[in-house]
Amino acid sequence: MNVTYFKRYRMEIGLIGHDFSRPPMSAGYRLVPWSDSALDDFSLAKYLSFRGEIDANVFPCLSELAGCRRLMREISRKPGFLSEATWLLVYTPPGSTAEENCGTIQGIRSRSGLGAIQNLGIAEPHRDTGLGTSLLFRSLEGFRQAGLKRVYLEVTAQNDGAIRLYRRLGFKLIKTVFKAVETVHA
Ligand SMILES: CC(C)(COP(=O)(O)OP(=O)(O)OC[C@H]1O[C@@H](n2cnc3c(N)ncnc32)[C@H](O)[C@@H]1OP(=O)(O)O)[C@@H](O)C(=O)NCCC(=O)NCCS
Repeated sequence: MNVTYFKRYRMEIGLIGHDFSRPPMSAGYRLVPWSDSALDDFSLAKYLSFRGEIDANVFPCLSELAGCRRLMREISRKPGFLSEATWLLVYTPPGSTAEENCGTIQGIRSRSGLGAIQNLGIAEPHRDTGLGTSLLFRSLEGFRQAGLKRVYLEVTAQNDGAIRLYRRLGFKLIKTVFKAVETVHA
């Protein structure tokens, strides 16, 4: 058994003084609120967003659909789970009625009373058009509506694109943490 340590940053944002009420949204996309019956859709969106990405090494459950379903169920059953901060992004291609689950974000209220973003992800073909920003906006507005004043998240230090997005919205680096991950070598 080997242990790999992943460097991660804790980043925080204060919600007062920001206006997240009008998330920009590209044509064909819509945001769907959390409901228990949408567990499979949220899980699929999480899987499509995280498979093959850095965080699938840090949290191996993210590399499998069953693992994403387990994680999604765990998050939704936490005492501080905030449906207001938990959203699914779906896309309807032009001329079609079939919807694709292509992004998700989840939020909880931590025991210390801060908002905590769990996993923000956009499936690869849908990136770089502002959708990650839209999901984050919607979630932060949900935290605000739930009465929270500060929100934090953890991001793997190598995840440059995600860090740029968080900084752009106003998140500040608070501290560095190390996540130990056990790996089995045959
Ligand atoms: C991190 C992540 C959520 C970002 O999602 P995204 O939808 O690509 O985010 P955005 O489109 O809002 O921003 C990404 C880039 O596109 C740019 N962009 C936004 N709208 C654009 C547009 N209309 N045209 C061109 N570029 C655009 C942004 O400026 C940004 O540029 P930058 O990388 O130079 O900073 C996504 O890459 C992802 O899911 N990664 C894998 C999972 C992951 O690591 N999640 C983070 C866990 S902490």
